[in-house]
Amino acid sequence: MPDYTLLARQLEALLDARDWLTNSAQTCAFIMQQVPDLNWVGFYLQRQPELLTLGPFQGKPACNPIPFSKGVCGAAARSRETQRIDDVHAIADHIACDAASNAELVVPILCGDTLWGVLDLDSPRCGRFSPADQEGLEALVEVFVRRSELPDFSLAWQGKPSAW
Ligand code: SME
Repeated sequence: MPDYTLLARQLEALLDARDWLTNSAQTCAFIMQQVPDLNWVGFYLQRQPELLTLGPFQGKPACNPIPFSKGVCGAAARSRETQRIDDVHAIADHIACDAASNAELVVPILCGDTLWGVLDLDSPRCGRFSPADQEGLEALVEVFVRRSELPDFSLAWQGKPSAW
């Protein structure tokens, strides 16, 4: 298992801009390089109500968009709880983007009371994500949130002025 304490420190140093787009791209690339046995890492963002839109990622082109009602990502968005799946083929509404994926971890990202998005990780290895991996990857997401200025996407769908 990677040394997640060290990875959190390294990610903290890497994310030296407050820009969420730069930081989210860097976070995906960093995790893909540093965490073994992954075939896909990426962000899905709630830029419209109850809909996850594909953001920066590493891996094969992926399914887009994903409604809150579907898939492991949708379950993480609805429940606001990390979804740690040992075998995605046992999940009836799992959305298969890459046939190589067998295990999945989806970490919800909150901005205040709003679900901002999720970080989704796929592995070709069944049972790839242990509870300790979950804890370590949640800590990396916390670093991303702490180091980034997250835009409030809900302003745009409320018709309020927004940079997005
Ligand atoms: N498997 C996800 C879809 C996203 S891809 O894995 C990149 C899901 O079931 O929500």
